[in-house]
Amino acid sequence: MPPANQAALDFLLSRRSRPAKTLRAPAPDRAALLPILTAAARTPDHGKLEPWRFIVLEGAALTRLASAVETTGARLGKPDEDITKAASAFADSPLCVAVVEVQKDSPKIPPIEQTYSAGAACLALLNAALAAGWGANWLSGWASHDRGFLTDALGLQPHESLAGFIHIGTEGAVPPERPRPDLDAITEWVSE
Ligand SMILES: Cc1cc2nc3c(=O)[nH]c(=O)nc-3n(C[C@H](O)[C@H](O)[C@H](O)COP(=O)(O)O)c2cc1C
Repeated sequence: MPPANQAALDFLLSRRSRPAKTLRAPAPDRAALLPILTAAARTPDHGKLEPWRFIVLEGAALTRLASAVETTGARLGKPDEDITKAASAFADSPLCVAVVEVQKDSPKIPPIEQTYSAGAACLALLNAALAAGWGANWLSGWASHDRGFLTDALGLQPHESLAGFIHIGTEGAVPPERPRPDLDAITEWVSE
């Protein structure tokens, strides 16, 4: 057996998100966030296309996003309670990193692989934040799929989309364990 990185394995076998609504200040400052972003940027990426980028949202930017969610919800005719819940995710967030999928033209790498890589960047960012001791949660929400919101509130270009909002802060409560998949049901062993 090759030598194991037991601490890393133990982390991966026990990791879990902390619900965004339980996150509090303080959030990581720039110095604390840099290694977390650096770890996320180490995500597998076929062809070195870098099909993702990060937008760090703090302070007044989160208030602005909450307000943009309200405008978007009214335009989409969402119920008031849905709008309030979605806006609170930003208004109450200590810090949020928007992971943006950036589709690159490539004769070799299909768009779906760039999408997978952007999703992987979200998990890498989430795991790095958790490993650094922060509470963190990967959220999307209906506004994240609305082109008007992405353009007006986040300045995304047409070839860009939102892979995830990673909320990061100090954990307010440790959630109960969540049921995990039955490995036998999702794993097939093929040896011939
Ligand atoms: C792409 C994506 C979007 C998600 N969006 C939301 C969301 O908007 N609201 C929510 O409550 N959970 C959302 N989740 C689920 C949570 O991030 C997370 O999967 C769940 O809390 C369990 O995480 P854990 O396995 O780290 O414990 C999303 C997950 C993914 C992968």
